[in-house]
Order: sequence, then structure tokens, then C-alpha cells
Amino acid sequence: MRVAVIGTGYVGLVSAVCLVHMGHTVVGVDRDTEKLTLLQGGQSPIYEAGLQEDLELAMGTGRLQFHGDLAAAVGSSVVIFIAVGTPPLPSGASDTSAVAAVARGIGLALAGDDQPRLVVNKSTVPVGTGAWVQDLVAQAATTRGAAAPPVTVVSNPEFLREGQALWDSYNPDRIVLGSDDPVALLTMEQLYAPLIQRRCRGCDLRHPGPIPLIKTDLASAEMIKYAANGFLATKVSFINELAQLCDRLGADIGLVADGIGLDKRIGRAFLNAGIGWGGSCLPKDVSALLHMANSHRVQLRLMGAVADVNRDQRLLVVSKLQKVLPVLKGCTIGLLGLTFKPSTSDLREAPALDIAAQLIHLGAVVKGFDPYWSQQDHWPEALGSIHPSPTPADLARGCHALVVVTEWPEFKMLNWQELGSQMHQRLVVDGRNCLDCSALTAAGFHWQGIGRNPSPAELAAAL
Ligand SMILES: NC(=O)c1ccc[n+]([C@@H]2O[C@H](COP(=O)([O-])OP(=O)(O)OC[C@H]3O[C@@H](n4cnc5c(N)ncnc54)[C@H](O)[C@@H]3O)[C@@H](O)[C@H]2O)c1
Repeated sequence: MRVAVIGTGYVGLVSAVCLVHMGHTVVGVDRDTEKLTLLQGGQSPIYEAGLQEDLELAMGTGRLQFHGDLAAAVGSSVVIFIAVGTPPLPSGASDTSAVAAVARGIGLALAGDDQPRLVVNKSTVPVGTGAWVQDLVAQAATTRGAAAPPVTVVSNPEFLREGQALWDSYNPDRIVLGSDDPVALLTMEQLYAPLIQRRCRGCDLRHPGPIPLIKTDLASAEMIKYAANGFLATKVSFINELAQLCDRLGADIGLVADGIGLDKRIGRAFLNAGIGWGGSCLPKDVSALLHMANSHRVQLRLMGAVADVNRDQRLLVVSKLQKVLPVLKGCTIGLLGLTFKPSTSDLREAPALDIAAQLIHLGAVVKGFDPYWSQQDHWPEALGSIHPSPTPADLARGCHALVVVTEWPEFKMLNWQELGSQMHQRLVVDGRNCLDCSALTAAGFHWQGIGRNPSPAELAAAL
């Protein structure tokens, strides 16, 4: 099928590449000319494992193009994906202005056109947006004196995880399709058939059977996305609150999580205590869910508490530092990992930004090493107040403490003897409970985790 993907960010670019590997012909459209120049030259503007290679392969087929002409892309496609950003407004509501702009652009481009098309919403949007998009397309066409084009809106929420975006797109746990038109759902099922049958590049054939397909109405599909992110955020905030109690009672949150996670009704995923959730999705989707509920006079008390716990959790590492360094003024603190999670370049709502701001507010000097950003030619504006370090050893030099903010796998291999020898004081706060505490103890570090209280036997084993 001929497909247009409007918005070539994390979701749009990865989707465009996957659609090509499913056998479709795809045009990616963006209003960001810098991004387009990179993409036209075969360069991915973002880092995601395997993306650069799969982008090159997709472009090599001759079935993937990128340009900025929305009208031309829409006119030549039967399926039009909307994958633009829906960032939070100051009120917490989702800013759907980019979705609206694209919907109007589609309506103007299709004025007078009578070929049936699907407009598929992959952006995360408040419940009711699908119906609104349908109206916006029709209204825009009428401003050109034309009848509403035969466009059907489908909701197809995206569940990929940044850091594993490509893998998740080839191997989703389920595909959700929402529309009030059964023919539109059937067309979407045909579009996804190679993926559903696990017949395209990147599909993990060890998985038994086809990918589950949920076909539902527009509103339910839109709600499924918010419910999924709301529930994941709840699991994290739940374990983080319990971790604080473990710290007081001497229990170990990792063992507690293992103990409850083996229960199939609970599951172990998203039960790793730490600094809490960040990124471009969970924070804004939880806020949007709360905002939606408020505007319909429904009180989501649990969701409100989940957000509050997460906000406080970020700054817990600062209190942990203060236990050993009561006066942070004049101290140098090194942050290990700055992106909101490992294997991504994404700094949106990254806990590192809040932690650095609070440390600087208390008078500390903050240095940072990030396995992605420390390798780039430029240090991004968002990290402007953090002094860049090219290596972990450089980061450690002169530090009074190190804080693990993001659990990049390479941090498990660090040579703590060497780092300690560079430091002013051997202190580590492991904000992700990802380090081997016995190795740290053996290297003479005073360390603290989040609810992590290993038994004396475990620690003694290292000595
Ligand atoms: N990033 C994730 O992990 C993830 C996961 C699931 C769902 N989502 C949702 O998917 C949507 C997209 O997220 P993202 O992370 O890919 O965003 P992004 O900011 O990385 O990308 C959005 C892209 O849309 C482009 N754009 C904006 N307005 C445009 C317009 N009028 N015309 C053409 N291009 C336009 C931007 O230039 C940008 O390149 C959001 O609603 C998000 O909530 C994101």
C-alpha cells in the first residue's frame, strides 16, 4: 500500500521504516527542515538501536522517501499516519495543535478528491480526538468549496519503548485498532498482515503464533493508550514508595520485587525501584489523563498520588547525598547518565535535569557523563548547566560523590578502584539500584541505593 507518515520523530520514523520492511511504499513528512535534510541523506536524526541500519536498508529498497510537502504526500497515499508530538500544556492537558494542523492540511489537500482514504492516529491524543480530526478534515475541505472527502479516522496507539523502539515495533505485544467503520479496520488489518503473521524483517520467530490484534471503537482505542501508561506509572510509583519503607525497615526492595513479581497476577516488569519515571510519554500521559478526568468531573485520586510520588522520588537522591554531605554548597557532584533511560538520546523530562537543578540551587557544581551525549560533537542546550565530562574517569575527578541517574549497562563494568582514586571522597548514590554493591564496598565506597539493603553476608562476600 502507499502510506504517508506525518511527523518523523521517534514514533513516525520507526513506523515508517517498519512499514517499508512490511512491503509498503512510504513517504515521511516533517516540518523540521534540519531533520529532513539528515533523513534525505540517509541519516537517522535520533539514536535507537538498529535504526540507522534499518533506515539505510529501507531507503535502499527505493520505497522510502522523506520530504516536507504534506499535500503531495497525502494526495499519493491511501493510508495517512499522524505521528506528530502531543506535548503537555502548562495546564497538564495534551497540546493537540500539531494534530489539528495536520488534520486541516489533509482536508485542504483532499478537497474535491473522491478516493477513500484512512487517516490513522498514532499520536497519543485525548479521548474524542479521532472524531474531532474527522470534523477538522471535513471543515478544511469545505473552506475550499468542496464536499468532505471520503476519509475515515482510525486510532492506532503506539506502545513502543524508547531505547527498544525498533524491536518493539517489529514485535509488539498487541496491535490496537479503533474505528467505528469495520471496512477501515479490515484495511488496517491487511496493512499490518506481514507483521501480524511475523513475516517481516526484525520479527522474532521464537514468539509463538500471530501478534494479538485488538479491534475496537475509536474512543476505547484512545483510552487503551492512557490506561496502559497510567498503569505502568502506578507500578513504578508503588514500588518506589515501598522502597522508602524498606530503607527504614532494613528490607531489600529488589528481593521484595522478585518475591511479588513471580506472582503471575503481578508480574516483575516495571517493579525496579529508583529515581522514577521520566521521558516524553509517562509524565505527559499521566497529566493528560488527570486533566481529562478533571474536565469530566471524575476524580482519579490514585493517578494523582502516582504523579506526586514520582515528582518527590527524583529528589530523593539529593536527600541521600545530604545524609553524608549535609552542606552541598561547594561540593562537586558527578551524574552518571543523563538521558531519561538507557539506549536513547532522549532528554525530555529526564530526572537528571531536575536533580542537577536542585543540586545547583543548593550550591553544588554538577558534572555529567552520558554514554550517548558525551560522544557527540555538541552538548545539548537542555544540559547547559551541567559540565560535560568525556569519560567516567574524567567525571570522577574531584567529585565528592557520584550519582547513577540512568542505568546504562556499561556502568556495571566501571572500574571503581580507578574512579575512587580520582575522587575527593568515595561516595556513590545508586539511583537505579544497578551497581554491584559488593564491588563498591570492596573498593572502599560508601554507597546508598533506593530501598536496597543487601544482607551483611552479601556484602561480606566481597571483602
Ligand atoms: N516517543 C515515544 O516513546 C512514544 C511512544 C508511544 C507514543 N508516543 C506518542 O507519539 C507521538 C509522537 O511522539 P514522538 O516521540 O515521535 O514525537 P517527536 O517530537 O519525536 O516527533 C514529532 C515529529 O513531528 C513533527 N511535526 C510536528 N508538527 C508537524 C506538522 N504540522 N507537520 C509535519 N511534522 C510535524 C516534528 O517536527 C517532529 O519531528 C506523541 O503523541 C507521543 O505521545 C511516543
